[in-house]
Amino acid sequence: MKAAMKLGNHSGLFGWMAAGMAVAGALGGLAYATAARRNGRVPEAVNAHVRQRLLEAMHGEAFAYLKYSLFAAEARRSGHPKLAALFERTARTERYEHFAEEAKLAGLVGDNEANLKDAIEGEGYETKTMYPEFATEAETAGDTQVAERFREIGRDEAKHRDEFETALRELQKQRK
Ligand SMILES: [Fe+2]
Ligand SMILES: [Fe+2]
Repeated sequence: MKAAMKLGNHSGLFGWMAAGMAVAGALGGLAYATAARRNGRVPEAVNAHVRQRLLEAMHGEAFAYLKYSLFAAEARRSGHPKLAALFERTARTERYEHFAEEAKLAGLVGDNEANLKDAIEGEGYETKTMYPEFATEAETAGDTQVAERFREIGRDEAKHRDEFETALRELQKQRK
Protein backbone atom coordinates (compact mmCIF):
# COMPACT_ATOMS: atom_id res chain seq x y z
CA MET A 1 0.00 0.00 0.00
CA LYS A 2 3.04 2.26 -0.06
CA ALA A 3 2.14 3.60 -3.49
CA ALA A 4 -1.46 4.16 -2.44
CA MET A 5 -0.39 6.11 0.65
CA LYS A 6 1.65 8.40 -1.56
CA LEU A 7 -1.68 9.20 -3.21
CA GLY A 8 -3.08 10.69 -0.02
CA ASN A 9 -3.53 14.12 -1.61
CA HIS A 10 -5.32 12.59 -4.57
CA SER A 11 -8.30 12.01 -2.32
CA GLY A 12 -10.86 11.54 -5.09
CA LEU A 13 -8.73 8.94 -6.76
CA PHE A 14 -7.94 7.23 -3.47
CA GLY A 15 -11.61 7.09 -2.58
CA TRP A 16 -12.48 5.66 -5.93
CA MET A 17 -9.76 3.06 -5.53
CA ALA A 18 -10.97 2.07 -2.06
CA ALA A 19 -14.52 1.67 -3.35
CA GLY A 20 -13.27 -0.26 -6.35
CA MET A 21 -11.26 -2.60 -4.13
CA ALA A 22 -14.19 -3.27 -1.82
CA VAL A 23 -16.68 -3.94 -4.61
CA ALA A 24 -14.54 -5.63 -7.19
CA GLY A 25 -12.08 -7.42 -4.89
CA ALA A 26 -9.21 -8.78 -6.92
CA LEU A 27 -10.26 -6.66 -9.88
CA GLY A 28 -9.80 -3.51 -7.81
CA GLY A 29 -6.20 -3.02 -8.87
CA LEU A 30 -7.15 -3.15 -12.52
CA ALA A 31 -10.10 -0.82 -11.95
CA TYR A 32 -7.82 1.59 -10.10
CA ALA A 33 -5.33 1.64 -12.95
CA THR A 34 -8.13 2.30 -15.43
CA ALA A 35 -9.61 5.07 -13.29
CA ALA A 36 -6.22 6.72 -12.84
CA ARG A 37 -5.76 6.71 -16.58
CA ARG A 38 -9.25 8.09 -17.23
CA ASN A 39 -8.84 10.89 -14.69
CA GLY A 40 -5.45 11.80 -16.11
CA ARG A 41 -4.11 11.60 -12.58
CA VAL A 42 -1.43 8.99 -12.57
CA PRO A 43 0.68 8.41 -9.46
CA GLU A 44 4.30 9.47 -9.93
CA ALA A 45 7.07 6.90 -9.60
CA VAL A 46 8.89 7.29 -6.29
CA ASN A 47 11.61 4.68 -6.71
CA ALA A 48 14.79 6.33 -8.06
CA HIS A 49 15.75 3.37 -10.24
CA VAL A 50 12.27 3.13 -11.73
CA ARG A 51 12.28 6.86 -12.42
CA GLN A 52 15.64 6.45 -14.18
CA ARG A 53 14.11 3.70 -16.33
CA LEU A 54 11.21 6.03 -17.17
CA LEU A 55 13.68 8.68 -18.33
CA GLU A 56 15.56 6.13 -20.44
CA ALA A 57 12.32 4.94 -22.01
CA MET A 58 11.32 8.56 -22.70
CA HIS A 59 14.57 9.15 -24.55
CA GLY A 60 13.73 6.18 -26.77
CA GLU A 61 10.17 7.35 -27.37
CA ALA A 62 11.29 10.92 -28.16
CA PHE A 63 13.90 9.61 -30.58
CA ALA A 64 11.36 7.32 -32.25
CA TYR A 65 8.92 10.24 -32.64
CA LEU A 66 11.49 12.39 -34.42
CA LYS A 67 12.98 9.54 -36.41
CA TYR A 68 9.57 8.39 -37.70
CA SER A 69 8.77 12.00 -38.60
CA LEU A 70 11.85 12.07 -40.82
CA PHE A 71 11.05 8.60 -42.19
CA ALA A 72 7.56 9.86 -43.04
CA ALA A 73 9.04 12.82 -44.92
CA GLU A 74 11.20 10.44 -46.96
CA ALA A 75 8.22 8.17 -47.69
CA ARG A 76 6.17 11.19 -48.84
CA ARG A 77 9.04 12.58 -50.91
CA SER A 78 9.54 9.26 -52.69
CA GLY A 79 5.83 8.86 -53.51
CA HIS A 80 4.66 6.46 -50.74
CA PRO A 81 1.84 8.37 -49.00
CA LYS A 82 0.44 5.28 -47.26
CA LEU A 83 3.81 4.48 -45.75
CA ALA A 84 4.19 8.15 -44.78
CA ALA A 85 0.83 8.00 -42.99
CA LEU A 86 1.90 4.86 -41.13
CA PHE A 87 5.11 6.52 -39.90
CA GLU A 88 3.21 9.69 -38.93
CA ARG A 89 0.50 7.77 -37.07
CA THR A 90 3.09 5.73 -35.18
CA ALA A 91 5.14 8.86 -34.41
CA ARG A 92 2.06 10.47 -32.85
CA THR A 93 1.55 7.46 -30.59
CA GLU A 94 5.18 7.60 -29.42
CA ARG A 95 4.89 11.33 -28.66
CA TYR A 96 1.32 11.85 -27.41
CA GLU A 97 0.76 8.51 -25.66
CA HIS A 98 3.97 6.68 -24.75
CA PHE A 99 6.19 9.71 -24.01
CA ALA A 100 3.39 11.72 -22.43
CA GLU A 101 2.28 8.86 -20.14
CA GLU A 102 5.85 8.17 -19.02
CA ALA A 103 6.53 11.89 -18.52
CA LYS A 104 3.55 12.10 -16.20
CA LEU A 105 4.73 9.10 -14.16
CA ALA A 106 8.27 10.53 -13.99
CA GLY A 107 6.96 13.93 -12.85
CA LEU A 108 8.82 15.56 -15.73
CA VAL A 109 6.87 18.82 -15.80
CA GLY A 110 7.07 21.06 -12.76
CA ASP A 111 6.07 24.70 -12.27
CA ASN A 112 7.53 27.33 -14.61
CA GLU A 113 10.45 28.16 -12.35
CA ALA A 114 11.42 24.50 -11.93
CA ASN A 115 11.02 23.92 -15.66
CA LEU A 116 13.27 26.88 -16.50
CA LYS A 117 15.93 25.71 -14.03
CA ASP A 118 15.79 22.23 -15.55
CA ALA A 119 16.11 23.66 -19.07
CA ILE A 120 19.03 25.94 -18.06
CA GLU A 121 20.87 22.97 -16.58
CA GLY A 122 20.35 20.88 -19.72
CA GLU A 123 21.37 23.61 -22.17
CA GLY A 124 24.32 24.53 -19.94
CA TYR A 125 25.57 20.95 -19.96
CA GLU A 126 25.22 20.75 -23.73
CA THR A 127 27.03 24.02 -24.44
CA LYS A 128 29.80 23.72 -21.85
CA THR A 129 30.51 20.00 -21.67
CA MET A 130 28.74 17.73 -24.12
CA TYR A 131 29.19 19.46 -27.48
CA PRO A 132 32.78 20.62 -26.85
CA GLU A 133 33.77 17.07 -25.87
CA PHE A 134 31.92 15.54 -28.81
CA ALA A 135 33.51 18.07 -31.18
CA THR A 136 37.01 17.28 -29.91
CA GLU A 137 36.40 13.55 -30.32
CA ALA A 138 35.11 14.09 -33.86
CA GLU A 139 38.15 16.20 -34.72
CA THR A 140 40.48 13.54 -33.35
CA ALA A 141 38.69 10.93 -35.44
CA GLY A 142 39.02 13.12 -38.54
CA ASP A 143 35.27 13.80 -38.87
CA THR A 144 35.69 17.53 -39.38
CA GLN A 145 32.16 18.13 -40.74
CA VAL A 146 30.65 16.54 -37.66
CA ALA A 147 33.02 18.47 -35.41
CA GLU A 148 32.00 21.77 -37.04
CA ARG A 149 28.31 20.89 -36.66
CA PHE A 150 28.78 20.01 -32.97
CA ARG A 151 30.55 23.33 -32.36
CA GLU A 152 27.87 25.35 -34.10
CA ILE A 153 25.04 23.55 -32.34
CA GLY A 154 26.91 23.99 -29.06
CA ARG A 155 26.87 27.77 -29.63
CA ASP A 156 23.10 27.64 -30.27
CA GLU A 157 22.62 25.87 -26.94
CA ALA A 158 24.41 28.76 -25.20
CA LYS A 159 21.79 31.10 -26.67
CA HIS A 160 19.01 28.84 -25.46
CA ARG A 161 20.52 28.77 -21.96
CA ASP A 162 20.91 32.57 -21.91
CA GLU A 163 17.32 33.13 -23.05
CA PHE A 164 16.02 30.75 -20.39
CA GLU A 165 18.13 32.53 -17.75
CA THR A 166 16.63 35.89 -18.78
CA ALA A 167 13.14 34.38 -18.64
CA LEU A 168 13.84 32.95 -15.17
CA ARG A 169 15.00 36.33 -13.84
CA GLU A 170 11.85 37.99 -15.26
CA LEU A 171 9.65 35.35 -13.69
CA GLN A 172 11.35 35.79 -10.30
CA LYS A 173 11.03 39.60 -10.56
CA GLN A 174 7.30 39.34 -11.29
CA ARG A 175 6.78 37.40 -8.09
CA LYS A 176 8.48 39.98 -5.83
FE1 LIG B 1 6.64 3.60 -28.10
FE1 LIG C 1 18.85 23.65 -27.06
